[in-house]
Amino acid sequence: MDNKRIIIFDTTLRDGEQAPGCSMGTEQKMQVAEQLYRLGVDVIEGGFPVSSLGDLEAVKNIAKTVGRAANAPEICGLARCVEGDIKACAEAVKPAKRPRIHVVIATSEIHLEHKLHMSQDQVLARAVESVKLARKYADSVEFSAEDSTRTDIHYLAKIVEAVINAGATTVNLPDTTGFAIPWEYGDMFRKIFEMVPNVHKVVMSTHCQDDLGLSVANSLAAVQAGVRQVECTINGLGERAGNTSLEEVVMALKTRAALFGTKVDINTKELAKASRLVSSLTGVVVPPNKAIVGANAFAHSSGIHQDGILKYRQTYEIMNPEDVGVAESTLLLTSRSGRHALENRLNHLGYKLSKKQLDDMFVRFKALADKKRYVFDDDLFVLMGDESGEVKDDYTLEYLQSVSGTGVAPTATVRIKTLAGKIIEETATGDGPVNASTNAIDKVVGLKPKLIGYNLHAVTSGQDAQGEVSVRIEEGGLTISGRGASTDVIEASAKAYLNALNKLSSAKRTKSKRS
Ligand code: KIV
Repeated sequence: MDNKRIIIFDTTLRDGEQAPGCSMGTEQKMQVAEQLYRLGVDVIEGGFPVSSLGDLEAVKNIAKTVGRAANAPEICGLARCVEGDIKACAEAVKPAKRPRIHVVIATSEIHLEHKLHMSQDQVLARAVESVKLARKYADSVEFSAEDSTRTDIHYLAKIVEAVINAGATTVNLPDTTGFAIPWEYGDMFRKIFEMVPNVHKVVMSTHCQDDLGLSVANSLAAVQAGVRQVECTINGLGERAGNTSLEEVVMALKTRAALFGTKVDINTKELAKASRLVSSLTGVVVPPNKAIVGANAFAHSSGIHQDGILKYRQTYEIMNPEDVGVAESTLLLTSRSGRHALENRLNHLGYKLSKKQLDDMFVRFKALADKKRYVFDDDLFVLMGDESGEVKDDYTLEYLQSVSGTGVAPTATVRIKTLAGKIIEETATGDGPVNASTNAIDKVVGLKPKLIGYNLHAVTSGQDAQGEVSVRIEEGGLTISGRGASTDVIEASAKAYLNALNKLSSAKRTKSKRS
């Protein structure tokens, strides 16, 4: 085993799934497992097979498919140090080319006294027995000493030595309660490396919860101390405050590889996709300011930063957005933006301005930006006087019907009147009623822009509240906004989308006149 290589152990489907409201069915787990395979993680912990028949089947399916693919990762399941758990886990991971059984028992005084009601000797004996039993079913056996960071270090060293003698191949020392501070966690591993004579026979592993927001920092401290497996989850999903975020820890190890002197073999271009998939399957929204995969991770809004980025990207970016699967950095035009960013966007739209023209335009831009959160291309055309701001609608929504519900494929029918008076009707399906209606509108208009922003808020209160939808779409290098309001949020969405499409058609004509 290459001593510099960090094993990435993904536990989105086990620890991640333990986050409140995030449990996944077999079909969903399979989708995530396939994406983890594309990412190239080394180990997929697919679940806790004894917990339910569904979970056992899910892990088995992953083992049979992803676990048998070319360059398959190890497929792992979790088991308490209980015979029934280990046998269920063995059955679930068996079809994989490289099965792993992960056994866990708590080792801290607080858990022994109040949860397990066992003595240290009893826990040690159970751990040894369980590792031996697991080894009958798999060559790869991981032992976790739950609540390691609150365990007496001498006892921890004793149990680690014993489970290695019993045949464990990986030993994980989790910060189960997210209690550790980075240098303390690193020191715990340094002590274990010094105190345990057979430690070189196994891969030592880190697993950190995020209760104090330190899981990534703690995992990196463990790597610095010599640990070679990092357990983590997509979007940092996990029990309570979550687990170590895979995308953050991987990009930290990659970006600062020279400092760590280690390497990771992850196809990082799949990170953004993995994040979106897990977010859509669990319904847990990724905050815009989340490192690596948040919507603002590569978005620049202040004038000083935009000026720097336009001169030399690395002034404010330490990673290339394409390396994590984000198409490009974005420079949002806001009231904090400066002349350089405005000029750059206007050039992109086909305008070449003299210094005087730019100065005048900048004053108008600032006045608008003070009133509006973002200034889009359609706003710039209006500011430049090429458009009146009152778009003559090429298309008007005459009628919308949408059908959705449990067990029904969301479907929408739209009837749209063109400027020339022609009536066109189209029907489409989608992931939801909004998506079905935008798909039907696309069919009528013959365009397929990317919907890059969608926002819904109530503009009046009460049961008959009006919902206002604002959207942002992108096509052919143009970013356009649209708005629509109605007491029916699907209609408000369709109106907002059509409003953006009308502006897009107009902006396209303006842009082509200029180029
Ligand atoms: O947090 C924890 O201790 C765990 C173990 C099973 C690794 O999830």
